[in-house]
Amino acid sequence: MTDQFAVLGNPIKHSLSPHIHQQFAQHHNHQIVYEKIEAPRDDFKATVTKLHQQGYSGLNVTLPFKLEAHALAESLSERATLAGAANTLIRTEQGWRGDNTDGIGLISDLEAVLGDGLHNMHILILGAGGSVQGILPALLEQQPASIHIANRTLAKAEELVGHYQDETLTASGLDYKFPQMYDLMINATAASLDGEAPALSHTPLISSACYDLFYAAKPTAFMQWGKTIYGVKVKSSDGLGMLVRQAAASYELWTDTYINDELVDSIQAELRKKLAD
Ligand code: ATR
Repeated sequence: MTDQFAVLGNPIKHSLSPHIHQQFAQHHNHQIVYEKIEAPRDDFKATVTKLHQQGYSGLNVTLPFKLEAHALAESLSERATLAGAANTLIRTEQGWRGDNTDGIGLISDLEAVLGDGLHNMHILILGAGGSVQGILPALLEQQPASIHIANRTLAKAEELVGHYQDETLTASGLDYKFPQMYDLMINATAASLDGEAPALSHTPLISSACYDLFYAAKPTAFMQWGKTIYGVKVKSSDGLGMLVRQAAASYELWTDTYINDELVDSIQAELRKKLAD
């Protein structure tokens, strides 16, 4: 039996997910079909319901449907409930169960980049949009010493932080005069989509790494900015590893198959070459 999977988004043309999942399947001798489906922006629920009727085993959900996927799921994992967003739907008899593997994908990639866990780290996040909402529960679970969220629109950062009763979580605008050293700075602003680094009024002190949730063929504008400011002692990474690792976590949920680091690394290296072509 061939299991059917798909990733839904709008737009979806450039998604690398089918390629990544085919690699997982090939490595483990699984017969799967994994498609890209551009769901209509006003008809996501009907599309997903139809795919359930057609016998699909699992779905990935990307922009702009993660909140809707969370809302329509018959049941939810704890991390999807906390994130208020789902990027993975798992078939059940009754309907779809929602989960969110973005956070775990990020955590495991950060561990690979840093060579260390996030416990006791001071983390600075730039941006307070949907992607930060999705990863925040997983980051907090690692018990960092603090997380500061700086966003262009201060009210959005404050609203996000307000959902948590956590005094280690703070918010500001991008004009903040950062008072302390951070281990890690994560860029989650959409400035990268315009080939820009977010404009900060004051440069924060960073000791270990600059990580961009976005990825591109070349180092992102944020990574280049980080290199100029902090030099080579501070590591820099884009989010390609997170993409592969969130996919691995979804595949594990659907097929109960463990995807090891070696396979993740080789797919990441191959995608890096593919992006450059
Ligand atoms: P995503 O799902 O990728 O997080 P989003 O929910 O639209 O997308 O959020 C985009 C984030 O990028 C927001 O934090 C946004 O800041 P605002 O809340 O002020 O809109 C931020 N952003 C977008 N363009 C930016 C830019 N040029 N400089 C700084 N921040 C930017």
